[in-house]
Amino acid sequence: MSVKVVVGSQWGDEAKAKIVDYLAVDADYVVRFQGGANAGHTVIVNGNEFIFHLIPAGIMYPNKICIIGNGVVLDPSALLNEIEELKNRGIDVDGRLFISQKTHLVMPYHKLLDQAGEKHKGKNSIGTTGRGIGPAYRDKAARVGIRIVDLLNRDVFVSKLEQNILESNEILTKIYGYEPLEVNKVVDAYLEFDRKIDPYVKDISIMLNDAVREGKNILFEGAQGALLDIDHGTYPFVTSSNTIAGAACIGTGIGPTHIDEVIGVMKAYTTRVGNGPFPTEFDDEMAKIIRDMGGEYGATTGRPRRCGWFDGVIGNYSALINGLSSLAITKLDVLDTLPEIKLCTGYRYKNKVLHTFPVDSEVLENVETIYESHPGWQEKTTHIRKYKDLPVNARSYLERISELVKTPMKYVSVGSDREQTISV
Ligand code: IMP
Repeated sequence: MSVKVVVGSQWGDEAKAKIVDYLAVDADYVVRFQGGANAGHTVIVNGNEFIFHLIPAGIMYPNKICIIGNGVVLDPSALLNEIEELKNRGIDVDGRLFISQKTHLVMPYHKLLDQAGEKHKGKNSIGTTGRGIGPAYRDKAARVGIRIVDLLNRDVFVSKLEQNILESNEILTKIYGYEPLEVNKVVDAYLEFDRKIDPYVKDISIMLNDAVREGKNILFEGAQGALLDIDHGTYPFVTSSNTIAGAACIGTGIGPTHIDEVIGVMKAYTTRVGNGPFPTEFDDEMAKIIRDMGGEYGATTGRPRRCGWFDGVIGNYSALINGLSSLAITKLDVLDTLPEIKLCTGYRYKNKVLHTFPVDSEVLENVETIYESHPGWQEKTTHIRKYKDLPVNARSYLERISELVKTPMKYVSVGSDREQTISV
């Protein structure tokens, strides 16, 4: 039996789903525990691309049980679209996709409030995905959120919804100048949704604890990345959930003593979408080169990702707050043509050298980066399947990352296909 957590260890988009897909071959259960349809998890098998927003990437294997935990905020329309799309491509989720009754629902007013709020903030916007994630988690914390279990009792559901729409309409119409939402339309849409998702709803906390007791293999699939964590990330430029490994327990209801291994996924460089500090960010010219080579465009919004060198300070911090047991370093091949590769080993702020991650975003925004230079390998790595066959400069670059992050490297990815993975 093993319980593993796979987490993003930078600002998301580290190719977690590819690693989850690779590891899922040995898993009985694959579980999403936080975030929502803001995530875009891409899996490529034999050249066929699948992008998941809510359904765990393990669904690609015909006999895996896939779970959406209570820590996720669930947009029903996004889920139903995803189920439909999978069915059209020959993947049936029935009987093996389960959703916690405690999962909070993303409602139409969450999406409108997210989008209108961002517009209203102007240059101070976070750069959210506009999927209603922040407002949905805000309602959860304010104890006015609507959970899947609420759909069971029509009267309770309608009265909660009426109250929420009343309040949301005040903000939408009076502050943002939007049209009000009609209660009846939302009620009808969600009751229809309830009918469709009913077969998937379960007490997944019991289900997972039974699975642990029976010695099953469980793989938790994190979304976003450590630096987007609401508590530990570059606040306020973060998402609204806890993205670090500890959230796997909270977002499903299994205890921390059950977790055997935490695998941190890091790109061989760094990217970020949305606003906020990014110390190792490239200039426009270099960003364009890496963005084009790495296909660095958001899987959910299509936005161009900001790109930069690997940041060892962030890597090290991420390893600490996640308790990483090992690293999966992805997209090494994107660096194949570069003559020189830089690694950030520390920051300088007001003539002081910082080796730990500064909590204050203002400081992070103004640090000077300290780099060491590594010679590139300037050969293709996409066909390599054994660690020892990687060019010597690639190996020394990877080993330096592992040393800086103080975590052993277990996997290296040299392309987006399942096959293009090296077990170290
Ligand atoms: P939200 O999660 O839509 O509220 O967006 C908050 C911040 O997290 C923004 O900077 C987004 O670009 C970022 N974000 C959210 N989900 C992802 C993701 O899956 N990958 C990368 N960045 C993300």
